[in-house]
Amino acid sequence: MRRSLITGLGAYLPARVLRNDALPTHLDTSDAWIRERTGIAQRHIAAEGEATSDLAAAAGRAALARAGVEPGRIDLLLVATSTPDRTFPATATAVQRKLGLPPCMAFDLQAVCAGFAYALQVADSLLRTGSANRALVVGAETFSRLLDWNDRGTAVLFGDGAGAVVMEADGQPGTPLDRGLLAARSGADGRHHDDLYVDGGPSTTGTVGHLRMNGREVFRHAVARLSAVAEETVAAAGLGLDDVDWLVPHQANRRIIDAVGKRLGLDPEKVVVTVDRHANTSAASIPLALNVAYEDGRLKPGDLVLMNAMGGGFAWGAALVRW
Ligand code: UT7
Repeated sequence: MRRSLITGLGAYLPARVLRNDALPTHLDTSDAWIRERTGIAQRHIAAEGEATSDLAAAAGRAALARAGVEPGRIDLLLVATSTPDRTFPATATAVQRKLGLPPCMAFDLQAVCAGFAYALQVADSLLRTGSANRALVVGAETFSRLLDWNDRGTAVLFGDGAGAVVMEADGQPGTPLDRGLLAARSGADGRHHDDLYVDGGPSTTGTVGHLRMNGREVFRHAVARLSAVAEETVAAAGLGLDDVDWLVPHQANRRIIDAVGKRLGLDPEKVVVTVDRHANTSAASIPLALNVAYEDGRLKPGDLVLMNAMGGGFAWGAALVRW
């Protein structure tokens, strides 16, 4: 059996930064409340006319450059997003055109905040079985377009951005000490379908709709689910949590991140936190955080990186990578 390796990483954030104290006054919120309850200080907001595929293409271009892979050599493109450019065709096909990728399998994957973790597992499976050799996996979102700017309970929590990785197949099965994706686990539980959703869609209202969330219920389940899927994934690789160098979790709320790190017994220094700068960018949050840790020199070759996410569905996933 083959293995998949991450060979390039890139990210893109829209230029406009919206700090808590610049949020619309009618939201009746405060910088102090948002920082205390969520850890968020600011978020990036896509410019008018800037679509999810633009963010995704910019992140993808950066990842291809870092990997030293020509666009023409990509044979699988996955875009994890819940904010597609259009209902169809897949945003992936817009990204494919913008990056000049050759004809290949290209599709969107919709698992909300768990989308990037799901996409890593799906791409890994296709690479390992020989259906593809070189994949571009993107998480990209423009959640600002889904927000109800009159709902302070949700409007303050989300931001826009994109991150991407190049994944390449390696002919050797390898050991847990070798580079590569060592294990991944994903799941969903539709009983929580109504706890975090968008109240529109082509087959129901015929509108795009706005994000709605039962925040307390999501919070309650998030800590348990995120911890459990992380533990299962590390165990599946035959490793222990002590072996983990970096936890790169989905960035929804600082309190959730801290609680999960604590439950897993990880030193807080090993947990990558970007929710303060990016807010919750859904499927983009893990690759954006990975990129920060890579660019500031924390992520080093041979490090063991654990990623985990949970969100609407509920859907959750985790992946363990030897960097
Ligand atoms: O990506 C995965 C999806 N998302 C998540 O993981 C989010 C999970 N949930 C959360 O992060 C938290 O539940 C929130 C940050 C959404 C809310 O924090 P909380 O500590 O659970 O607050 P709460 O909903 O219990 O609300 C406490 C109070 C309420 O006022 P009353 O009823 O006590 O008078 C809210 O109306 O805070 C009020 N509140 C706000 N006040 C100022 C809610 N949002 C705001 C706000 N500014 N933005």
